[in-house]
Amino acid sequence: MLRTHTCGELRIDNVGEEVILTGWVQRLRDKGGMLWIDLRDRYGITQLSFEEGLTPEALLNQARELGREFVIRVVGKVIERESKNDKIPTGAIELKVTKLEVLNAAKLPPFMIEDETDGGDDLRMKYRYLDLRRNPVRRNLELRHRVMRETRNYLDGLYFIEVETPVLIKSTPEGARDFVVPSRMNPGEFYALPQSPQTFKQLLMVSGFDKYYQIVKCFRDEDLRADRQPEFTQIDCELSFVTQEDILNTFEGLIHHLFQKVKGVNLPKMPRMTYADAMRLYGSDKPDTRFGMQFVELNSLVKNKGFKVFDDAELIVGINATGAASYTRKQLDELTDFVKRPQIGATGLVYARVNEDGSVKSSVDKFYAPEDLAEWAAAFNAKPGDLLLVLAGGKDKTRKALNELRLEMGTRLGLRDKDTFSALWVVDFPLLEWDEEMGRFHAMHHPFTSPKPEDLELIDDRPSDIRANAYDMVINGVEVGGGSIRIHDRRLQEQMFRLLGFSNDEAKAQFGFLMEAFEYGAPPHGGIAFGFDRLCSIFGGSDSIRDYIAFPKNNSGRDVMIDAPSPISDAQLDELHIKMRNITAPEKK
Ligand code: AMO
Repeated sequence: MLRTHTCGELRIDNVGEEVILTGWVQRLRDKGGMLWIDLRDRYGITQLSFEEGLTPEALLNQARELGREFVIRVVGKVIERESKNDKIPTGAIELKVTKLEVLNAAKLPPFMIEDETDGGDDLRMKYRYLDLRRNPVRRNLELRHRVMRETRNYLDGLYFIEVETPVLIKSTPEGARDFVVPSRMNPGEFYALPQSPQTFKQLLMVSGFDKYYQIVKCFRDEDLRADRQPEFTQIDCELSFVTQEDILNTFEGLIHHLFQKVKGVNLPKMPRMTYADAMRLYGSDKPDTRFGMQFVELNSLVKNKGFKVFDDAELIVGINATGAASYTRKQLDELTDFVKRPQIGATGLVYARVNEDGSVKSSVDKFYAPEDLAEWAAAFNAKPGDLLLVLAGGKDKTRKALNELRLEMGTRLGLRDKDTFSALWVVDFPLLEWDEEMGRFHAMHHPFTSPKPEDLELIDDRPSDIRANAYDMVINGVEVGGGSIRIHDRRLQEQMFRLLGFSNDEAKAQFGFLMEAFEYGAPPHGGIAFGFDRLCSIFGGSDSIRDYIAFPKNNSGRDVMIDAPSPISDAQLDELHIKMRNITAPEKK
């Protein structure tokens, strides 16, 4: 070995030992008579010391010529430090160097390799290998490793088997857009990269592997956000001979295990909320339940008092921002502007303050008598000092807008603490979702999800009311996982494809292999997939999953370090039988 110890290892007990360390020069302090170097590796920092008079002149000069991020190897004796540093584990000792070898010189890095760096996002992504030397980024990957290891421990303990499924598969029309790969050997034909291993894991159930999992890369060509990457990782699972209840319990167990092992947090049993309740009480299928502020519907209280906005509205609904009655006019105007932004789309905001004496003052006092407003306050269970915020309009749009306002108020009032964790299951999702643009139904989860048997009779007349055996796990307002009980009967699967607008031929061309497999003894089965990067970002307390991916893409889907995607040569294009139309590559972002 080139070294006897790591830079995070030596303690006071090692004093007197002769050791060899290797690492990167983090910092060099030259005080004339004394010279110190902080030597860094993955495990920590050890201070090296050189002293004029005691250290041979040549060695001292050699040390003075080192620069930041040089890779060196030193031999020396561990001594007790005069002034100790209790902020680092090796802070009681230092290494009195007797020999120094430069293993590799380094150019000056383009940004500071420190916890707080001066490098902007783009620069750090271009030199991600240097960014990864920084403690916070390295710690995120260590956390990711622990989550992965504990996931495997838990699932292995329950006799799950990890099976790899192919990455070059067939493009399918459902879900997000596919990334496609041209086939040299099959002119004009393309593979697709999997959006998830959904059909393969179902086929593994037909094969009898009754408990499967895979920590697996998935690929989706969709618009990117803080919690979305074009390639991301799932903990993908499937089980046979189970009920929905078995699946919820098994995977609630996984998340409890991970919180316990990775964060030392014992989560309580997860409540279950129906999709319908989540929409009614939070206006979202992924409610942030770290705080209350549930929606209160006011239709029966506020209509027919001469206020046209409310009279014409399908839904009048509000929240109680507890303790926010002291909000100034300016702050209320800000909130009004917030809900009127085009992305949120409310037409206005009605508010009412509950004063210290219990009286209520609203922005629509013209239409509502004090007794009316007292009724509002009672409906919200409001106390003196509370602020009621009310929106009105079409049902879905108003709920969506109030969800945004609720989250904004939660943030403003400091109710969304990153170290508080609130997890729940959202269950009973609708099976189908109407796509206005395409004029047809989409599967809300995916086309293999089983309808609730008791709702099947609605299939002809009220298909949009059919509920699915589908569930999501939500933590702190983030959808961390989702799954369903699957259809395992060929006829029902065909019926489902018809409902989704597939002709028999289309269904057969796309998914014939699966429907055929259902005829060879398919067991009842179901499963779930967790967004692994999202779980890591929740454990780590960051909004962005990029922080937990070693080499992520930027918001335009580019890897700026390796410069991908990039054009390929004409020879490669010819080999792949691809003719390019006249495309000028967009400017790189
Ligand atoms: P679904 O599409 O809900 O289900 O995906 C499962 C989980 O994966 C995460 N996720 C993402 N994470 C990062 N970037 C993305 N672009 C991204 N897209 C999704 C989410 C989500 O909850 N095959 C089904 C699962 C099943 O039915 O078993 C599926 O993929 O956390």
